[in-house]
Amino acid sequence: MNTRTPVLKSRLPNVGTTIFTVMSALAAEKGAVNLGQGFPDFDCDPRLVDAVTEAMKKGLNQYPPMTGVPVLREAVAAKVSALYGHAYDTTSEITITAGATQAILTAILAIVHPGDEVIVLEPCYDSYVPNIELAGGVVVRVPLTPGTFRPDFDKIAAAITPKTRAILINSPHNPSGMVWTKAEMQQLQDLLDPTDILLISDEVYEHMVFDGRPHESAARFPGLAARAFIVSSFGKTYHVTGWKVGYVAAPAPLTAEFRKVHQFNVFTVNTPVQYGLASYMADPKPYLELPAFYQRKRDLFREGLKRTKFCMLPGEGTYFQCVDISAVSDLGEAEFCKWLTSEIGVAAIPLSAFYGNGFDQRVVRFCFAKKDETLHTALDRLAKL
Ligand SMILES: Cc1ncc(COP(=O)(O)O)c(C=O)c1O
Repeated sequence: MNTRTPVLKSRLPNVGTTIFTVMSALAAEKGAVNLGQGFPDFDCDPRLVDAVTEAMKKGLNQYPPMTGVPVLREAVAAKVSALYGHAYDTTSEITITAGATQAILTAILAIVHPGDEVIVLEPCYDSYVPNIELAGGVVVRVPLTPGTFRPDFDKIAAAITPKTRAILINSPHNPSGMVWTKAEMQQLQDLLDPTDILLISDEVYEHMVFDGRPHESAARFPGLAARAFIVSSFGKTYHVTGWKVGYVAAPAPLTAEFRKVHQFNVFTVNTPVQYGLASYMADPKPYLELPAFYQRKRDLFREGLKRTKFCMLPGEGTYFQCVDISAVSDLGEAEFCKWLTSEIGVAAIPLSAFYGNGFDQRVVRFCFAKKDETLHTALDRLAKL
């Protein structure tokens, strides 16, 4: 009998253990404060847990509709309309997903044919590139401007070819905390206007934009909305990253193709969480107050960083703060993060992890979605540098 397991030819030969896993394991081993991975160390609003519990107790525990429960789709459409002025049809244009990660993969699988080119702006979230590769697409990497992380439209325009199927953008931006301006969104709209290029707009940090800036959702720009899958995440907005629930808003013809993949991918998303989220969303305060909530934490963290030799980059949005390490160490980003975790007791993420070629610009990312006491402990340790 042959008991040998067949050797696989990997669909993703370049994917190994991510730096996030490595840094979290090292942080746990060394007892470091983990400002690496992006998730809160505080709990969500108990009213949200009550709303989900109530749905479970009411017996809302069987398969929901494939597209998501109508009340949640209605709540999402109402929010998007109120905030960004674009009315999505709740039946044919909003789909509830298993987090933004599934939404992005599903959108890519729905639109990318083998050989199609997809533009990503680096540094970028780590799922984009493997997602495009799984679809048989060709990844076209365009750098955001080093230092400012603003989009370079000359470079984006130069990357467009007749084979370009889509472009992926992310604002507010992980890892840099940069937020696209109205002028930049308009520039993108103008650039894409004469083309059939689709847009995947990753807006999971839409409610974390600071200093009175608006979030310039693609939904606000008719020429972008007409070609866009707009992706968001309840996990980020409501401090429940482990629930893995998000949504996609897209014009009906795009949503129809999205749902063909969605229904044979996850089919649908767990019922009681959807009902719980829908009833919780009836009160807009939690998401309207989120910018102030995280701005206070950003300010606390930035104030503390002034006691260190790090050079802070702007923090316009998200719950990430990037710093230049040049004045603190001669190490490369990844080595520095390992050293910082082991020797100083604070975990961070190197920006090189967000580039295909490991580009090292001596910048690392901290996550400040943490209790004040966690931030104070981390800052006291960093002050020793
Ligand atoms: C830019 C970006 N997109 C998508 C996601 C994934 O969101 P979700 O947890 O809803 O899948 C994250 C999570 O870190 C992210 O930072």
